[in-house]
Amino acid sequence: MSPFALTRALPADATAAALRADVAAGLTREPKQLPPKWFYDARGSELFDQITRLPAYYPTRAEREILLVRAADIAAATGARTLVELGSGSSEKTRHLIRALTALDHYVPVDVSESALDGAARALLADHPGLSVHALVADFQQGLALPATPGPRLLAFLGSTIGNLLPPERAVFLASVRAALEPGDALLLGTDLVKDERVLVRAYDDPEGVTAAFNKNVLTVIDRELGADFDPGGFDHVAFWDPEHEWIEMRLRARSAVTVKIPALDLAVAFEAGEELRTEVSAKFRRAGVRAELAAAGMELTHWWTDHADRFALCLAVPVPVPAPSPGAGPGGK
Ligand code: SAH
Ligand code: AVI
Repeated sequence: MSPFALTRALPADATAAALRADVAAGLTREPKQLPPKWFYDARGSELFDQITRLPAYYPTRAEREILLVRAADIAAATGARTLVELGSGSSEKTRHLIRALTALDHYVPVDVSESALDGAARALLADHPGLSVHALVADFQQGLALPATPGPRLLAFLGSTIGNLLPPERAVFLASVRAALEPGDALLLGTDLVKDERVLVRAYDDPEGVTAAFNKNVLTVIDRELGADFDPGGFDHVAFWDPEHEWIEMRLRARSAVTVKIPALDLAVAFEAGEELRTEVSAKFRRAGVRAELAAAGMELTHWWTDHADRFALCLAVPVPVPAPSPGAGPGGK
């Protein structure tokens, strides 16, 4: 059996239809908004990798520090034979985990970006020839249909990508994670923490301008895929801290009034000068909030580890058994 398989749960036409639907809905509502998953074509994935190496973007370094210090604890607590990773990207930090999980024989990276999955799998297989890698091109918000692999399974969701989901989306997503977990499985979740506003804003508005290029890349994706005529140079990158929601918001602000044509949708979208399009939220978390969201989805937080400066947390959670219905407690029963 080949040690590498790639399954496309998202046929190209389904992806194209989803992009058309998101752009049509997001650019005809007030205020305008787009879901962040469309950043990640091959160039967007490469720009994100550059972001992770920026001095201002601390989350990747902080999470890597925790993984390095706690990898053996995670291995001991889970004994995982299968590692499923959602939004795996380059799988770069995951290497520390894979090295420490001594019982591991299956790795299932899941991502919308086929280019990221392909590159990551090749690099990993070169280092771990005994590992069976089953990559899945899929949208983790559309339910988790995972390949049958041996348990216990550890489902990792790193990088604080959970913060890119809005709170109601997080609840739906965590419920689908809970549904995918069996007794003995666990969730490893990375969450960026609330901190000084200046540190946060700088991480999303770096002096090198890489985050600005990443943000504007979504316009390039729409131009290429839908034949639109967005001029990315006609928009400014905006990042600000929303203290009420405790999230960073990224937006693109039109420099002047412009009407953008989107032929694939037979649509023309007018922007006023200064009008903003929300492209991403990146929520920041507190321990009590993470515990509560996990509990609401039927999971119990068992471990909470932070980096030396308390900037980022990695936590483990396990599924709470669903109580068996008591005898006679059917519909209409007591
Ligand atoms: N886990 C890596 C990468 C984070 S970047 C890290 O911690 O550095 C976010 C990743 O999630 C990208 O690779 C992107 O392609 C993927 N992604 C974003 N939305 C997704 C979705 N809805 N379904 C699947 N993958 C998604
Ligand atoms: C993938 N995700 C967790 C990143 C974040 O920090 O919200 C995406 C990103 N956006 C701007 N910089 C990085």
